[in-house]
Amino acid sequence: MMLLVIINLLQEVFGLTSTALDPCSAYISLNEPWRNSDFHVNQSSSLPLCDSHMSGEWYRFTGMAGDAMPTFCIPGNHCGTHAPIWLNGSHPQLHEGIVTLPVCASFNNNCCQWNASIDVKACPGGYFVYRLPRPSVCFHVYCGHFYDICDEVDCTGPRCPEPECRCVPGTVLGPDRQTCLGKTSEAEEERGQINCAEGRDKPGDTEDR
Ligand SMILES: *[C@@H]1O[C@H](CO)[C@@H](O)[C@H](O)[C@H]1NC(C)=O
Ligand SMILES: *[C@@H]1O[C@H](CO)[C@@H](O)[C@H](O)[C@H]1NC(C)=O
Ligand SMILES: *[C@@H]1O[C@H](CO)[C@@H](O)[C@H](O)[C@H]1NC(C)=O
Repeated sequence: MMLLVIINLLQEVFGLTSTALDPCSAYISLNEPWRNSDFHVNQSSSLPLCDSHMSGEWYRFTGMAGDAMPTFCIPGNHCGTHAPIWLNGSHPQLHEGIVTLPVCASFNNNCCQWNASIDVKACPGGYFVYRLPRPSVCFHVYCGHFYDICDEVDCTGPRCPEPECRCVPGTVLGPDRQTCLGKTSEAEEERGQINCAEGRDKPGDTEDR
């Protein structure tokens, strides 16, 4: 009885805390190197891995895992698993708050063998946080990708310029107009081959736009 009361109390306290905290400051970091879109899985390693331990917490991609979820198809056998999960949509802007977006898991040359939805939020520091539910089956892993994320310009005057993202040479502005896609990776090349491309630049085309 006493135990029950304590558990209820704890649930109340933590329930209240988790709804009160901004996910931009209360997130779990995902930094595993195998989670990156460039990480290829082969027969001999101890992979595949599975994100079955996740249960709707807020996460941020950091370190060797990458900066953000890829917004284009990642072919199977990447991100440390057989069925990598990618974001089938554009990252939100800062003013949009929390948005719900579809994700796809690719497998067997099918870029969207499974689909689900996740919550995403753009944070003032120029990064994104994601509320990630447990994938419906194994082996599924939420992918990270190396991006340069455009910094927001702090301007409060009456004549602020339109926010403009400038990508460093060698990178191109992604479809969300907020992230700079890095050099063409192995994963992206394969994506082109299995025809999941959404009309991105050819490798070598680094012209400014
Ligand atoms: C497979 O993975 C192992 C361990 O990560 C690595 O040593 C090996 O070179 C890889 N083989 C191929 C063909 O990529
Ligand atoms: C992404 O989502 C759109 C709309 O929800 C869908 O039509 C499309 O097939 C999805 N992309 C892929 C590669 O399956
Ligand atoms: C999965 O995709 C179908 C077809 O595009 C869509 O109707 C459904 O809402 C999606 N499911 C989730 C969880 O997003």
